[in-house]
Amino acid sequence: METQVGIVGAGPAGLVLSHLLALQGIDNVVLEQKTRDRVESRVRAGVLEQGSADLLIDTGVGGRMVAEGAVHEGVNLQFDGERHRIDFTALADGRTITVYGQQEVVKDLIAARLAAGGTILFEAEDVAPHDVIGPAPSLTFRHCGSERELACSVVAGCDGFHGVCRDAIPRRARREFGREYPFGWLGILAAVAPSTDELIYAFSERGFALHSLRSPEISRLYLQVDPADHVSNWPDERIWDELRLRLASPGWTLHEGPVLEKAITGMRSFVCEPMQYGNLFLAGDAAHIVPPTGAKGMNLAIADVTVLARALAAHFNDGDRAGLERYSERCLGRVWRVQDFSNTMTELLHVLPGDDPFSSRVQRAKQRYVESSVAMRRTIAENYVGLPLD
Ligand code: APR
Ligand code: PHB
Repeated sequence: METQVGIVGAGPAGLVLSHLLALQGIDNVVLEQKTRDRVESRVRAGVLEQGSADLLIDTGVGGRMVAEGAVHEGVNLQFDGERHRIDFTALADGRTITVYGQQEVVKDLIAARLAAGGTILFEAEDVAPHDVIGPAPSLTFRHCGSERELACSVVAGCDGFHGVCRDAIPRRARREFGREYPFGWLGILAAVAPSTDELIYAFSERGFALHSLRSPEISRLYLQVDPADHVSNWPDERIWDELRLRLASPGWTLHEGPVLEKAITGMRSFVCEPMQYGNLFLAGDAAHIVPPTGAKGMNLAIADVTVLARALAAHFNDGDRAGLERYSERCLGRVWRVQDFSNTMTELLHVLPGDDPFSSRVQRAKQRYVESSVAMRRTIAENYVGLPLD
């Protein structure tokens, strides 16, 4: 098999890249280790920045998002029961966010690629990149029981944090930065109408809680927990009790319903520099991870591949490699900006275990500054809706 761009991974990064390349007439093949059903049913985050939503609409894959997603003009930050609205209309020049599940974005992109005759090979096992430093890289893998090889000019590593592409950059040629947080999120999907029109990020002495939404009938909620904790310790009743206490605000009621799914995930920040090596380009979680408090993971993946698709179009269609050479540098500026925002939101809103009294007082001072300062709320608003790509 032969193609121009071999893409590893059918998450938001790999699929948006495949879609954008196809629109530019660039041939590509996506290799994904999981089944289609598995990829389409993984519950992940659900906030699209204005720029991400615009990209999906402008490239013809935003129809269902526009029909079924919800445009939000603000979010709430709550400190000890007091809610403060971050008003995007007033503070972020009218830019908005769209609440629409990541797996719905993934479903729409897979359907669009297959309808356009694109190739996505699901259940591709033991995918391995070769010769990425030179002009003729390849990907070997096993599919339907037979050994296969995909020859390509460029490999796009869109295979997430646990993928294989990052390791194709020799250790001496890359540097990794990161930290793990001493807490995780217990996330639930519940069959109950959301108790709020807009997201609520709540700090309380008991820990962080987040009320998000999926549809008029489905709510998405999260609790800060110990990352080593297990869902078996969290029967539904305990989850609702804890959510009620942490989200409590005068005159407001949390509606409860059947829990459809629950999972605990740890939280980390991570960046790999550079994001490229020869003809291998990393995008999305393969290159960086942010804690979910800023709702940025999917948006950062989409921003990376937007830059990469433009650079690849210049390379393949105009013979201009300059954009490709600058890919990593261009992406990393945004990546570190988003790392700062995600880390700021995380430290503002979580109870830091074993925190010293000095840090707790500083955290309280930051929270009060959000309440009192329009400048601070504007900073949160413009980062939350997403800074422009250029
Ligand atoms: N071979 C083939 N596919 C692989 C391999 C491999 N060795 N390793 C991982 N994959 C696939 C995964 O099964 C997954 O479908 O790569 C895909 C990576 O997708 P994501 O993890 O969704 O990462 P990305 O596309 O970068 O999107 C980032 O997704 O994980 C969330 O919070 C994250 O919102 C962020 C967004
Ligand atoms: C979600 O809806 O799943 C969600 C929303 C906001 C976040 C993280 C997750 O910060």
